[in-house]
Amino acid sequence: MSRPDSVESTIVDLDEVHLRLDSAAGPVNILRGLNLRIQPGERVGVVGPSGSGKSTMMMVMAGLERPTGGTVRVAGQDLGRLDEDGLARFRRDHVGIVFQAFHLVPTMTALENVAIPLEFAGAADAFDRARSGLEAVGLAHRLSHYPGQLSGGEQQRVALARAFVAEPSLLLADEPTGNLDIGTGATIVELLFDLAERRGTTLVLITHDPSLADRCDRTVRLMDGRIVDDGLAARAERERVAGD
Ligand SMILES: Nc1ncnc2c1ncn2[C@@H]1O[C@H](COP(=O)(O)OP(=O)(O)O)[C@@H](O)[C@H]1O
Ligand SMILES: [Mg+2]
Repeated sequence: MSRPDSVESTIVDLDEVHLRLDSAAGPVNILRGLNLRIQPGERVGVVGPSGSGKSTMMMVMAGLERPTGGTVRVAGQDLGRLDEDGLARFRRDHVGIVFQAFHLVPTMTALENVAIPLEFAGAADAFDRARSGLEAVGLAHRLSHYPGQLSGGEQQRVALARAFVAEPSLLLADEPTGNLDIGTGATIVELLFDLAERRGTTLVLITHDPSLADRCDRTVRLMDGRIVDDGLAARAERERVAGD
């Protein structure tokens, strides 16, 4: 299988991305020159030891953290050229995020958690779409429950519904099964891949679970703020073997 590799079709393009923070103890180099291209519809697993920069790289892709060096292009936009309003619009139009800790609003029902962000984004049919989104993750019977009345797995389903209803081109997931037991985590993963597949969503999935990373098209490995393996060689070898 051949994949387009032109810059035009690249959905994520990190070019020499650095992030340095100045702490009391001196400068800390968190990202040390990341170069990474992701094509539309690709599913990329991100692995690496704790503290290697995985979450920070994701925040940079989401436009939630500004790098101190290099260029970040996502969905055709150079994020460095956008002001805060521009970044907010960029996120609204292109990015969905799922966190390990769900990050639902405790005072809003499941339905409101999914619908309100859509409504803020100007969708007239926010509540209808939220209802179908929650149906798609098997929560039609939990619409009026508050997060505190839902299990961890159910809360993560709400978070998945919230991320997908806006139909992002890029879905970023930071250890989405990290707070769940193995069985529940597996269900969430099935749902995540299924939703991404059906919509052709590009998936960047940070995980400690090698079997999860194996389900992706390739695995990017970070170490100490650097990409030590972008997974392309392993993928090329898999495709060569499959082609024999
Ligand atoms: N706001 C911050 N201030 C100082 N150090 C930070 C900050 N955010 C992250 N770090 C440091 O950057 C490194 C990478 O963090 P992170 O991206 O969360 O790693 P990972 O997700 O791979 O565990 C860690 O050493 C962490 O302590
Ligand atoms: Mg992390």
